[in-house]
Amino acid sequence: MQNPTVLASGFLGTNFPIMQRVFEEGAGAITLKSIGPEERNGHANPTVLEWGHGIINAVGLPSPGFQNMDEEWEQLSKRKFPLIASIYGANIDEFATVAKNVALHKPDAIEANISCPNTKEHGQTFGTSNEASQTVIKTVKREIGEIPLIAKLTPQAPNIGEIAAGCEKAGADAICAVNTVAGMCIDIDARKPILHNKFGGISGPAIKPVGIKCVYQIYENVKIPILGMGGISNGRDAIEYIQAGATALGIGSATYYQGIGVFKKVCREMQEWMKENNVKSLEEIKGVAHG
Ligand SMILES: Cc1cc2nc3c(=O)[nH]c(=O)nc-3n(C[C@H](O)[C@H](O)[C@H](O)COP(=O)(O)O)c2cc1C
Repeated sequence: MQNPTVLASGFLGTNFPIMQRVFEEGAGAITLKSIGPEERNGHANPTVLEWGHGIINAVGLPSPGFQNMDEEWEQLSKRKFPLIASIYGANIDEFATVAKNVALHKPDAIEANISCPNTKEHGQTFGTSNEASQTVIKTVKREIGEIPLIAKLTPQAPNIGEIAAGCEKAGADAICAVNTVAGMCIDIDARKPILHNKFGGISGPAIKPVGIKCVYQIYENVKIPILGMGGISNGRDAIEYIQAGATALGIGSATYYQGIGVFKKVCREMQEWMKENNVKSLEEIKGVAHG
């Protein structure tokens, strides 16, 4: 990676020329929009809302399905950037099928999005159950062989440190935290929920303290690297995640607020902070907030 920033899944990661541009504009790696077991439209509009301190979305995992991506993979085979393919499934078998098929295209890493609902696990989401998350990670790891596996966790987990440790034990090579935080907005004049799905996931500046707390807890429980995300908008936010224990930094919502120049801007501001504070490498300050 040319730097520690990563385009988060769900933002601009659907079309090769745009991904290429995001890389040229400074992202260290690109994550694809999560790929599922079949074609899926996602939820009806409205699906995304900027509400003042962040974004709330309920796009509902729209996906062409792994079977319908040959053209994209053909283009992606010519990529010059590190590519993380995000995958989801509603049960273990679906995760296994998607993982196996996506692995054939040799992305540089596979991220298992284990925070989607509708699982066989008594309706719980995978990412909030230690047992279910370990089963998914073990299964996906078996299917993808040598390709590094990232477990993407939800901040809704009752003890994210324990879930992360379970994922590490099950074969994850890295942890990504966090996915969005559940929320809701109501239009008081219409007297109705704004999102068609009623509930959605919050991202952007409002969730930065949630992400920091999760990365801090995960760092105390695992040895594998952490891809920290949630509300990173500037160099100081990025340094805060590194001090909590992150090795790499995901950026999503800030591309909506600031455009794709945000990757270069975050890197420049990190370097300025390091210079001012006489810090030679990020390794020097990784996890320092743990004392
Ligand atoms: C519109 C939208 C779509 C998203 N789609 C995905 C997705 O497909 N898979 C996934 O793992 N995370 C998805 N996310 C979550 C982001 O990858 C990221 O974890 C979250 O937005 C926090 O980072 P941020 O505050 O920098 O945006 C999505 C977020 C938004 C706002």
